[in-house]
Amino acid sequence: MIILAFETSCDETAAAVVQDGRTVRSSVVASQIDAHAVFGGVVPEIAGRMHMQCIAQVHRETLAQAKLTLDDIDAVAVTHAPGLVGALLVGLNFAKGLAYTTGKPLIAVHHLRAHVAANYLTHRELEPPFLCLIASGGHTHIVHVQDHTTFAVMGKTRDDAAGEALDKTARMLGLPYPGGMHLDKLGEGGDPKAYTFPRPKVDGVDFSFSGLKTAARNAIHNAQCAMRNEDFAASFQLAVANYLCDNTLRAAAELGCRKIALAGGVCANSVLRAEMQRRCAANQLDLFMPELRWCGDNAAMVGAQAFYEHRAGNVAGKTLNALPNYPI
Ligand code: KG4
Ligand code: ZN
Repeated sequence: MIILAFETSCDETAAAVVQDGRTVRSSVVASQIDAHAVFGGVVPEIAGRMHMQCIAQVHRETLAQAKLTLDDIDAVAVTHAPGLVGALLVGLNFAKGLAYTTGKPLIAVHHLRAHVAANYLTHRELEPPFLCLIASGGHTHIVHVQDHTTFAVMGKTRDDAAGEALDKTARMLGLPYPGGMHLDKLGEGGDPKAYTFPRPKVDGVDFSFSGLKTAARNAIHNAQCAMRNEDFAASFQLAVANYLCDNTLRAAAELGCRKIALAGGVCANSVLRAEMQRRCAANQLDLFMPELRWCGDNAAMVGAQAFYEHRAGNVAGKTLNALPNYPI
């Protein structure tokens, strides 16, 4: 089954062609980073407008790269939730228009489910059940993936997402938006034991990142000129990575689950990847991580999840709407 997929939930206009949920025939991502960087974060109105300017071209390019026409496509898929509503609506209406005029089925895909499915593109052998840590700019969840379309949330953040804490800390250090990636680079040669951070106390395997963000702000404020930015970046990332790993491994032990996967933009972080690899090896757990190009927002992961949604009978009607908040 060949699926043409779209993703416009935040600041990437993306389209892809994916075969049978696992093979990427083409993937195009038009990033808006430069337009938002001057504001230090995503401006929703600009995001929506830029998606409208780009989507037709991104669509044409992805079909051209796959050397296919609309006649070869079996279904159209799109991220419908969660995200910036004005941004989601652009992809949704474009996909709806295509599905309606070609008579092909329309498949609605949840953004976090798509992030989980990014793993299927890298690990063709991976099948549920497994436990997945989803960490992005807006979400931090530990999810039991029971089958391709059944998810049980074991824990989630009660305030900020991990990506938000990394981005805001990077900004406090004067790094450009989006900060997570720049913090990762800055910390490469730093001493991760130079600074210590408090461990947020939350019941179960839920998270809280707002206190860590405040601790970073206070440390930067108190250190003033004596701040060693490389060491600080390395130490802060290790604190975040340790926290994410601790809760994920605890949830895995509680469930008796021996397969762990990572998903979302933050799982591109080199400290998190290394720490999770080290701990899973020490505990004889199998670890699955998407390759870097599928960690951040893209449409290939939407096409991957859409295959399984379609197989489960989840086909959307013409009244499908975009939802800014929607559980996985
Ligand atoms: O999944 P994603 O692309 O978009 C959302 O759905 O939010 O995640 C974006 C987040 C941002 O917070 C970004 O700074 C973070 O992922 N990120 C990273 C790295 N690359 C992207 N964080 C830490 N290290 C990285 N290498
Ligand atoms: Zn995302």
